[in-house]
Parts: sequence; structure tokens; C-alpha cells
Amino acid sequence: MCGIVGYVGTRRVVPILLEGLRRLEYRGYDSAGLVYSFDNRLVRYRAKGKLANLEAVVDEYIGVASGIGLGHTRWATHGAPTEGNAHPHTDCTGELVVVHNGIIENYNALKKELMAKGHVFTSETDTEVLAHLIEDCLKEKRDLVAAVRAALTLVEGSYAIGVLWAGEPELLVAARNHSPLVMGVAADACYIASDIPALLPFTREVIFLNDREMAVLGRGTYTIQQIDDGSELAKPVSLIDWNASMAEKAGFRHFMLKEIFEQPQAILNTVSGRIVPDTGFVDLPEIGLDYATLDAIDRIALVACGTSWHAALIAKYWIEKWVGIPVEVDIASEFRYRRLLVDERTLTIAISQSGETADTLAGIRRAAQLGSRVLTVCNVVGSTMTREADGVIYTHAGPEIGVASTKAFTSQLAALFLLTLYLGQTRKTIDPITRKKLGLSLIDIAEVIATELPRLQTEISALIEGYYEAKDFLFVGRGLNFPIALEGALKLKEISYIHAEGYAAGELKHGPIALIDREMPVVALVPRDSVYLKTVSNVEEIKARQGRLVLFGTSGDEHLSTLTDDVLYLPDVMEDLNPLLYTIPAQLLAYEIANRRGCDVDQPRNLAKSVTVE
Ligand code: M6R
Repeated sequence: MCGIVGYVGTRRVVPILLEGLRRLEYRGYDSAGLVYSFDNRLVRYRAKGKLANLEAVVDEYIGVASGIGLGHTRWATHGAPTEGNAHPHTDCTGELVVVHNGIIENYNALKKELMAKGHVFTSETDTEVLAHLIEDCLKEKRDLVAAVRAALTLVEGSYAIGVLWAGEPELLVAARNHSPLVMGVAADACYIASDIPALLPFTREVIFLNDREMAVLGRGTYTIQQIDDGSELAKPVSLIDWNASMAEKAGFRHFMLKEIFEQPQAILNTVSGRIVPDTGFVDLPEIGLDYATLDAIDRIALVACGTSWHAALIAKYWIEKWVGIPVEVDIASEFRYRRLLVDERTLTIAISQSGETADTLAGIRRAAQLGSRVLTVCNVVGSTMTREADGVIYTHAGPEIGVASTKAFTSQLAALFLLTLYLGQTRKTIDPITRKKLGLSLIDIAEVIATELPRLQTEISALIEGYYEAKDFLFVGRGLNFPIALEGALKLKEISYIHAEGYAAGELKHGPIALIDREMPVVALVPRDSVYLKTVSNVEEIKARQGRLVLFGTSGDEHLSTLTDDVLYLPDVMEDLNPLLYTIPAQLLAYEIANRRGCDVDQPRNLAKSVTVE
């Protein structure tokens, strides 16, 4: 949801801003803009649409010798995606600029007050009010830091902001409240960014800002203070172990395809060092909850959005089966606004790739207020959720850039399966021999996926010729594969714009079966598992109504090829781990169809990678 980047240092700022924006474009691509300070003036460029449009405008100015500036890539909330609504926004004089990620909730009231004082607004955004408000505060005292602080005490809502003012051209002021912001530090420069990938080409030393903190950056110098009372803070510098090439396409056509192929390694990285292969002992040192606390839990609440919610649905099956604790799964935007029956005996687990998703964050804050212990399964080190939770299980998937989540999902599954084994170990609900068998199978699944990926891609790219023009798709599965049906449908709709729905196979006859005719492709997940015969019956019902079947099933299951020509066979693995394997052809199917339709796979319309607004 919008990416911001800022730089103060000794190098030319424009290439740094453009590189940072390129790495943040997954956060929004409705418009882009940048500003730099030069000769005591602020020079601003903005363009509607993707970053390439901005690059086309600023290219010839790259030689300008400015060492301070801000950039922004927008995911529109207030105001259409036009150049006029693109950031940076200015005050009346054009001498003060603001870039912003978040929503200023009281912007209407503030705008009215400012207009009454004579301020003239030129955009439809909530952000512009910040520029005018700071301008107004500067009238009291010509001090940018004091003016930003004073303005922010009047603002309600979420923000990560960067501010430049021609009156103090060597200073960049940044602040955050409920929107992510990280600082990068180096000997001769300071940076701000919405997310770590923007900093990776320049520095791996970062400082995570917390809510209601602001930073004052100069050329290699900085101070951090509380917005509320101006008190200075000493904050630790963290070293990030990602590198810049991890956020590159590495020869793949799209980030999504690269990330699909990175899944075996991402799973291995997530599992590595956490299972002792000889004994099956599971160790999760960052979990932050002692055995006594875990023993006392009588309920688990899983909270997540989108693909991460699908991971939660699968974890419910695993935990209830192996640990015997009741598990509730909630979409975070529902969880946060309903009456919650969580207490100190509940373990609330947030699942999030980014660790910044606004609804999930709000959900765990509510649960914590009610006394629940909170654990986060997260991919981004130092993200807000990881800092607010009692404990963390990091997925080690590396940066995920494609908007459609792939390797983050399978890594979440690996982490949640590990958690299941860990809970089974602490609560003694899984005997050591079974635990070892399950743990080793989890390690092995990475190798199985690595072996199958190239073949599956070849088969699927041929298969989609018969399907890529379809208007609708259904995905069905039972048990552990029902969430994979949901995930397959989500992947397809978000990147190919084909309408798709996922259903529990047994639920079709309660309504959706009315949709089936010779035009309707139905992807059915039919592994030889404990519900195989039931799922096959549902597939027969679809065939009887002339649905166009694509089946994902177990190698050697010849019955499936009597039902349709389009069968993708997968190796027989332990039933519990089928979701990790069966999600792979679903991802590839969505990818190949979207690519065939000429869709923008990595940056699908209307979406953003990290959803930091409600
Ligand atoms: O960062 P999170 O895991 O919290 O994000 C949750 C969803 O926004 C995300 O999974 C989204 O549904 C993806 N675009 C799905 O591919």
C-alpha cells in the first residue's frame, strides 16, 4: 500500500530513489513521483501509472547533483490514480513536500480548517492535508522538526511519511504511526523506506521505527525521537541477512515464476536447524513461550488474510489432529471487529508474509488486550507484528516480490507444520517415533517439489491452451486440500482476472453444482488420501454434468484418466503434506494462464503486496 523511499547523503539522489522505488513498486503502481532538493529549491516529478512513466520524465535530470530527496509509488485510497493525486504533495508555496503511506482519517475536518485559513488544495488526496498542516505549523516557528511534530499531534490515522522543506534543505524528517517505515544507515548516508528490499543495494544496517516515532536524517547523521514529547531515543541497529540479488528476477520472466521455483529452498531454509534428523526433536527457540505456558493453552486462534488465511485453514487440520487443541481460524478483518472469546488460556497466532497487514495487526492487538499470548508466523524480520508478538516463528523464504504469494505460503505451511510437531512434543500428544517420521517427511517434501517442478511447468503450459480463455473456474478439494482449492482459485483470479471459486468438494451439491455445464472448467484435487473415494464421487457428479475436468491426483491412479484427459499426476507423499505439493500445480496453472493472457503477473491491477490499510 504505497511505497516511500528517502535518501540524504553524498551520492546523487535520483538513481538511488529510482532504484528504491523499483524495489517497492510491488506496494502500489497507480502513480509514482519523486522530489529532490537542488540549489535551495525542491524539484518534483510525478507521473500516472507505473514507475516506467516516471523514469521517462526524470531520466534527463539524473545528472543533477543533489544528495537529498524522496520518492513514492502509490496505491490509491483517496482520489483517483491521476498525476494530480500522485505524491509528493506540496504546501501552498511549493517549498514543502510530503510523501505518505497510510490514511489520514480526520483529513476532511483538517482540510476545512486549513481552507478557512486560506490554504488552497490541488489534489483529492488525504495526504495533501499534511503538507498544508506542516506549512501552517511552520508559521509559528521556522523549525521543520518542531512543525512536523506539532502537525502530527493533530492528525488521526495511519502514516509513514517523509518531509522535505526548502527552508532547511539538508534535513529529511520521517515519522510513522501504524504504517511500516525502516531507516537504513551507512557512514555517509541515511535512508528511509517502506520495506527492506529498497535498502538492500545500499545498506543492510537498519533501524525499525515504532509507532509514534520520528527520525531526523542528515548526511550520515540521525536522531530518533518520540512524536508525543520529543524525547530522544537510542535504538538498536539490526543487520539484515538478505542481499540485493535475492530481490532480482535472476533470469526468470517474472518474480512469481522465480519464487515458485524457489519453494524447495524456502521450505528447507524454514525447516533447517529446527528439526534434529536423528531424533525428530523440534526446536523453536524464538517462540518466546515456555512449556508451562504452552501446556496451559486450551484454545488456539489463527488470524490472517488472503493466502496466509489459507495457510491457517490447513494448520487447523494439523493442530486439531495431532495436538487435540480446538483451533479457530478467522479472517483478520472479521476477527478484529467481533466479540472475541479469547483470554489468557488462548494462544493467538498471526500468520503474515509481510508482518504489516493492517487487519492482522489490529487483530493481534485486540487479542493481546484480552490477555491472549500472541505468536507470529512471519517472513519479514523486524516487521511490526514480529515486534509486538510474544514470540515469532520466522519463515525463511527470502524477499517475496511478486504480488501473488507463493513461496511465502509454502514456507508458512512448513513453519505451521513444525509448530504442530512442537506442540505435540511439548504436550506429549505425538509419540517420538511418529514425530520423527512426520519431521523427516517435511524435510523430504522440498526434494519432491524440486524434482516435480520442471515437469509440471511443461505439462501445465501445454494444458492451459484448452483453458486460458475460460471465463470462470471452479476448484474443489476435501480435507487438507479444501484450502488448496481456495488458494488455487485466489491465485487464478488475482493474476489472470478469471473469475474463480474454491469449494469443499462435498459442498458442491448444496448449490454451486448448478454452475456446471460443458463450459465450466473444474480443477479437482484428488490425491489418494483418506477422503479419496468421497472426492472421486464428487468428481463423477461433475463429469455427469459435463464439467471440463482438470484433475491433480496420485501417480499410478489410472481411474483418474478414465474421467478426463487432463490429469496432472503427483508423487504419493504423506497425506498431511499433500497441501505443500498440491499447491504447486495450482500456482503454475494460474501463472501459465495469466502469462498466456498477457496479464501483468507480478503487478496485477488494483492489488498491492503489503496491505497496510483496512
Ligand atoms: O503479508 P500478508 O501475508 O499478511 O498478506 C496477506 C494477503 O494480503 C496476501 O496473502 C494476499 O492475499 C496475496 N496477494 C495472495 O497472493
